[in-house]
Amino acid sequence: MDVSSANERTTAGEPTTSSEPASAGEPTTSTDLATLMERGGHEQVTVVRDPSAGYLGIMAVHSTILGPAVGGTRVWRYGSFDEALADALRLSRGMTFKNALAGLPFGGGKAVLLGPAPEGRAEREAFFRAHGRAVQGLGGRFVTAEDVGTSPADMEIAARETRHVAGLERGMGDPSPYTARGVLRAMEAAAVERWGSAHLAGRRLAIQGLGNVGMQLARLLRERGARLVVADVAKERVEAARHELGAEAVAPGEILGVEADILAPCALGGILDADTVEGLRVEVVCGGANNQLRRLENGDRLSARGILYVPDYVANAGGVITGGVDIAGWSLDRMEAALEGIFDTTRAVLAAAREWGVAPQRAADRLAEERLAEVRLAGMDTPLRHPVA
Ligand code: NAI
Repeated sequence: MDVSSANERTTAGEPTTSSEPASAGEPTTSTDLATLMERGGHEQVTVVRDPSAGYLGIMAVHSTILGPAVGGTRVWRYGSFDEALADALRLSRGMTFKNALAGLPFGGGKAVLLGPAPEGRAEREAFFRAHGRAVQGLGGRFVTAEDVGTSPADMEIAARETRHVAGLERGMGDPSPYTARGVLRAMEAAAVERWGSAHLAGRRLAIQGLGNVGMQLARLLRERGARLVVADVAKERVEAARHELGAEAVAPGEILGVEADILAPCALGGILDADTVEGLRVEVVCGGANNQLRRLENGDRLSARGILYVPDYVANAGGVITGGVDIAGWSLDRMEAALEGIFDTTRAVLAAAREWGVAPQRAADRLAEERLAEVRLAGMDTPLRHPVA
């Protein structure tokens, strides 16, 4: 994988499932790592090993141009160190784009820990304490939070060793309500672009996944008078949506082919490939899941089919926007304004895509790059050399 090539890499957002494997077979010698970093524009890659804790972690700081590199800590059972490294490089770069477009004063980073994390209480504590020390070692250039394979409890453990952890209960806590609200605003912006009105009343909304984000989004949509058709592999969640929200239920295998106005992927990454895009019967795709496009080209396919796609990392930025409070010390009002800003950002991305004649995902990447370039031009591009408070 060439991490610098928009054509070859997958989407810029952070993936969350095994359905989108990191590319295997990446070179790993130090020379090759330097080359990979140069191509991807990465500032720093730190590998920390703590055998006594069974810990091996990669912290990739892609950019601190806009502020400390912010990104989750992912634990995954990688096939090899090469795979984990490729994932860290790709995901950290994606965070730079996501944070830049969300208007946050953050760069992009990601921690990838070679799993599995130990299950036993003492062993798990040792593992995440080791991670906390590794994060602390970066002196505030990298701030992390929970992600795939880690829980708030794990982050609480890490926080005993470092203050550079966000999303804790004593802070903003669970980000998913904010993520759901942001997705709603992105949908309303897409509705303006497609139908000339932000109103979703009477629209048929297909939601894949009724977890933390999907269920809260379903409630918000119901309040606005949308008609819901939902699917989840967890039957009790589907039942709850049926009873509480009057949703129509379909089997998980059917949701991507349902006829609706909007499809909201809120479960897995990598769901939009050549086959599923062909089978879609919606006008808009806008959801909370990360890395919905299996490959960037699938965004072009959506456009070719006349389906309006809201780039995942634009729509689902509500969660990381809570970091504005936890990390940058924003007031709640300022955070609310940034959350609301997802509406305007989505409008801008879709308008740019129309104007430039490119798919929205490409337009989003370009706009994010422009924001970074503006800061560079203003002469403020010196990477952070000192810890943030
Ligand atoms: P979650 O784990 O609470 O919910 C995922 C739901 O999808 C579960 O109910 C699960 O049963 C269901 N699911 C799994 N496979 C499915 C399938 N094949 N068909 C239908 N449903 C299936 O996760 P959460 O927090 O709601 O996140 C959802 C997505 O949004 C993930 O991709 C996540 O990375 C992304 N995201 C979440 C944020 C947050 O604030 N929670 C922030 C940004 C992105």
